[in-house]
Amino acid sequence: MSGPVLALKGVSVNRGEVPIVHDVSLDVEPGTVTVVLGANGAGKTTLMDGIAGLAKATSGTIQLGGTAMERLPVYKRAQAGLGYVEQARTVFRTLTVEQNLLVSRSGAGDLETVYGLFPELNKRRGLQAGHLSGGEQQMLVLGRALISDPKVVLIDEMSLGLAPVVVRRLMHAVKDLVGLGIAVLLIEQFANLALEVGANAYVLRKGRVVFDGPCDELRGDGERLHEFYFGAVPAGAGAEAEGETR
Ligand SMILES: Nc1ncnc2c1ncn2[C@@H]1O[C@H](COP(=O)(O)OP(=O)(O)OP(=O)(O)O)[C@@H](O)[C@H]1O
Ligand SMILES: [Mg+2]
Repeated sequence: MSGPVLALKGVSVNRGEVPIVHDVSLDVEPGTVTVVLGANGAGKTTLMDGIAGLAKATSGTIQLGGTAMERLPVYKRAQAGLGYVEQARTVFRTLTVEQNLLVSRSGAGDLETVYGLFPELNKRRGLQAGHLSGGEQQMLVLGRALISDPKVVLIDEMSLGLAPVVVRRLMHAVKDLVGLGIAVLLIEQFANLALEVGANAYVLRKGRVVFDGPCDELRGDGERLHEFYFGAVPAGAGAEAEGETR
């Protein structure tokens, strides 16, 4: 297939009756990680919920592999190949690792693909998921999205509460998805780690796209990122900018 695997044109999304995301156009190219950045409350999760069908898109078009999604219910979007790792998604703590994967499997989803990506999980197939480390639980959450063989996976902040070294491991896994033919749309608070694995980036501020371009342009440039997140950088705020965008 040529062209983007996921294409949004002029998408606006409401929370209830409140307009939150405005006129977003965004492409996810096959074989790439596309990064969505922005401050807390910028509308990143609302955008993903709009793509997945959990929040109402009031205008615009959403195409997956060239097929219109915007009028389809959530489960049909999933069946069409849209995977979604929601913010703060957790595992079934009393089920084993393997049972967690099996309950999420639809069709011909392959356990061995997940275990190949995460040898950590392979070693713990029979362990109750509640006994996994935080990083391993996130691997399992990701595995549950992969088991249905999606074309595109939306990933909303896997890193919450995890140590940077663990986040780095997860980012490597995200990059490995591309090798399996899965494109990724990634929200991540650790901006610089995300920009290392991403090809293209979008920055949202107050529900609008304020930057759209290659990750190279933003990588390591905390001041520029801060400006996109919050508006103009006050004089002498460079160090703070680096901290806030991590
Ligand atoms: N259910 C809701 N009802 C009304 N407003 C909401 C609802 N959920 C989120 N909002 C508002 O929508 C805006 C965007 O929220 P959203 O969760 O999409 O931001 P975000 O960029 O994902 O933030 P974070 O980085 O904290 O996850 C915020 O102002 C938030 O208060
Ligand atoms: Mg969010």
